[in-house]
Amino acid sequence: MSELPLRSRPLIPGQVASWLAVLALVGAVTAASVAAFLHFRTGVSPEAARRAQQVALRAETEAKASTLLASSAKNDDGTYRIPLNEALRIAAERPEVLGKLAPAVAPAAPASSAPTAFVPADEATLKRGQAVYARTCIACHQPTGMGLPPVFPPLVESPLVTGDPSLSIKFVLHGLMGPVTVKGITYNSMMPPVMGVTDQDIADVLTYVRQSFGNKASAVTVAQVKAVRDAASGRTVPWNTAELGIK
Ligand code: HEC
Repeated sequence: MSELPLRSRPLIPGQVASWLAVLALVGAVTAASVAAFLHFRTGVSPEAARRAQQVALRAETEAKASTLLASSAKNDDGTYRIPLNEALRIAAERPEVLGKLAPAVAPAAPASSAPTAFVPADEATLKRGQAVYARTCIACHQPTGMGLPPVFPPLVESPLVTGDPSLSIKFVLHGLMGPVTVKGITYNSMMPPVMGVTDQDIADVLTYVRQSFGNKASAVTVAQVKAVRDAASGRTVPWNTAELGIK
């Protein structure tokens, strides 16, 4: 009996190996078809997802565009109904939205209280005003309008003089209690009400003061004086700076 040559036996016999290969193939095919089935059943291909997103975005844009077109772009409190950056994106797709948007984003018109161009009063008014000044203000505020710091404040470079005239009308009608700071100096005394002046006198003297000593502010009218007088008709005490919000 000749001996068979000694051969190392393979770890997995050939027959078994081929069966395993078949099994692996069947497994892989099954897994692939399950994956494909799941994939198509839910229908979430990246392309379809993108398309769905676009449709949703377009619907949203449409809805917001009609909101913008139906009402003003701003709420009553001045906030934007739809955030501006978004509204601009919508306007890119629906240009008619721009018509609504343009007035809302335009800078506000200058307030009507903005200082108007300086128009000097006529000479007669200034002359009358100067006479009233010499009679009723000069003792304290001085011929130069420079006052006597730190007791009487200057009428020069003072926003209280050149600003809203209703303030100085109030001071003249009823007087003023400090503290009030003019040109860096704080005055804490009292200006008494100016006696023996008509509404015309007050309009004239304040016009004179607002247009003298280097001041260049609008004239004051009798109607303005009368309005302030009527509004404070029951008043008996001087104004104080705290109640007028003056620093
Ligand atoms: C008896 C003195 C006296 C007289 C008269 C007087 N003032 Fe005054 N005035 C004062 C004092 C004092 C103050 C500061 C009041 C304070 O300290 O609160 C003042 C403040 C003012 C202010 C605000 C502060 C400033 O300097 O801008 C104005 C405006 C003003 N006076 C205008 C007039 C005008 C116009 C007249 C005349 C129609 C007049 N005053 C008459 C004493 C006077």
